[in-house]
Amino acid sequence: MRGLALSLLCMLLPFAAEAAEPSLTVSVGGETRNFTRQELLARSDAATIQVPMDISYRAPMAYRAVPVAALLAGMTIPPDSVIEAVALDGFVAQLPLDLVLNTDESKAVAWLAVEEPDRPWPKLPEKDVSAGPFYIVWTGAGAGSIRSEQWPFQMATLESQPSPASRWPALAVDPSLPATDPIRAGQALFVVQCLTCHKLNKAGASDVGPDLNLPQNPTEYLSARGLHDLIRNPKTVRTWPAQAMPPFPPDYLSDREIDLIAAYLKHMAGRKAAN
Ligand code: HEC
Repeated sequence: MRGLALSLLCMLLPFAAEAAEPSLTVSVGGETRNFTRQELLARSDAATIQVPMDISYRAPMAYRAVPVAALLAGMTIPPDSVIEAVALDGFVAQLPLDLVLNTDESKAVAWLAVEEPDRPWPKLPEKDVSAGPFYIVWTGAGAGSIRSEQWPFQMATLESQPSPASRWPALAVDPSLPATDPIRAGQALFVVQCLTCHKLNKAGASDVGPDLNLPQNPTEYLSARGLHDLIRNPKTVRTWPAQAMPPFPPDYLSDREIDLIAAYLKHMAGRKAAN
């Protein structure tokens, strides 16, 4: 009986292992590549990298990783596009091409960190899961300038997409605003830090959180102070077990940057898309 169970197990295990082998899909300009975890770890350009300040773990970390630029090498990236990183939980980051393709360590270099099956990563702070199997991390002198939401964890796909400005005109500010208007700075921050989970005017690729302009804009039902507190740390406004929005500590967004995002939201309350 035992022997039978064992031999059945031996027959089934390879299939189970195959089904469980995570893989990353890269789609650029109509061409699609698929990389299994094993393939990524076996690549000659896989390296052990040190990340002095990992923004998701909030600690120094070391990873086996492959340069993101190498995964895109030889693919024809359409002009005016970004690399959209989609995570297993529906989080969607838009990563600017110049950042993703840079390999010069005097700036910031993007790596795809790969969780090794026999050396699992720790759980993320306040989460029940690790950042694996695939996680985009940054090294180089400019890594400190990479925003918290540009470190997507539990990644599933990388895909080229038109830049947010051309793909979603409904995010646009009043075109008569001067180029230096703070509302434009708020818009840029919003696209990097908030559009990853929220739509606005139905524009955006994620549905993790609610649309922040339709039917109502938070500046229409929250006080300025309440909105600021909510962005800094939603738990200071209200709290429940399934709450999913993360806090933005001062090293993710300064007080001034929160105010810029709030100014953009307030401006967009006057620019609602047709419902
Ligand atoms: C990782 C995903 C994620 C990110 C990033 C994120 N949010 Fe959220 N947000 C949520 C979710 C999910 C909710 C719904 C409440 C909850 O579960 O926390 C929410 C709720 C909110 C609310 C309250 C809406 C309401 O009526 O209750 C506001 C306002 C808000 N987010 C603004 C922002 C802003 C501004 C940013 C960018 C600085 C941002 N969020 C970034 C996921 C996110």
